[in-house]
Amino acid sequence: MSFDDKAREVASLVRAGGVVIFSGAGLSTESGLLDFRSKDGIWAHADPTRLASVGALENNYDEFLEFYKARLFVPDEVLPNVGHKIIAGWEKRGYVDGVITQNVDRLHQRAGSEKVWELHGSLEPVYCHSCGKMGERGDFLAGKPCSACGGHLRPSVVLFGEMLPQNALEAADELSDNCRTFIVLGSSLVVSPANYFPRQAKMRGAKLVIVNREPTPLDGIADVAAHEGIGEFLSAAERYMG
Ligand code: APR
Repeated sequence: MSFDDKAREVASLVRAGGVVIFSGAGLSTESGLLDFRSKDGIWAHADPTRLASVGALENNYDEFLEFYKARLFVPDEVLPNVGHKIIAGWEKRGYVDGVITQNVDRLHQRAGSEKVWELHGSLEPVYCHSCGKMGERGDFLAGKPCSACGGHLRPSVVLFGEMLPQNALEAADELSDNCRTFIVLGSSLVVSPANYFPRQAKMRGAKLVIVNREPTPLDGIADVAAHEGIGEFLSAAERYMG
């Protein structure tokens, strides 16, 4: 299928409603944020187990703090891009039943999406890893200890080695079971358990669409696999929506 054939096909699937969006870091690169596994992504220059893990938080706090300071400092000029906005528009028009995201940047919400489930948490709020007391972003960025117990402050992201939030998992499970079309946007689909949901939706009879610059392990079971830029592809689909 050509680019336009794929965009036209996705437009007709979206128009039928019952759509679930599943997003990864690739959706936010067009807002200026790095993804993880592209050749110039974050993990090309850093080891996730050394930085984004409970072990790092407990035994390597200085490096952990530096890594997340860079991520928490999502400068104000980082804005939702056309992909985020089209998804929010499709939710407002009743086509999208929910967004399952692996991203922690909250750009979906800033674009106007309301039914967003964050499988990997979010950068804020900041809280104490030892006693759970809520902390201030500024105190975390300044490397200050918890004001109540002196423990390490941390962001609300799910670290490697931690459980995913139960409410997001349950919502993602429900959405994957009941959707008509499951659209993956900008994910390498290599991290579990997040990468179970596209497969689950397909097994439950949904159409599976994958829009990702690079091939993914699930391309072979996708009804549409478009190795294209998300912004350009969703804009074309939007035009075909009429
Ligand atoms: N358009 C289309 N695809 C893109 C674009 C774009 N503009 N930019 C990047 N991509 C693709 C890349 O080719 C890559 O395959 O998006 C994919 C992003 O994959 P990852 O970097 O692995 O990000 P993600 O799948 O979200 O990672 C999952 O891993 O490190 C953990 O917790 C972290 O949530 C993250 C999880």
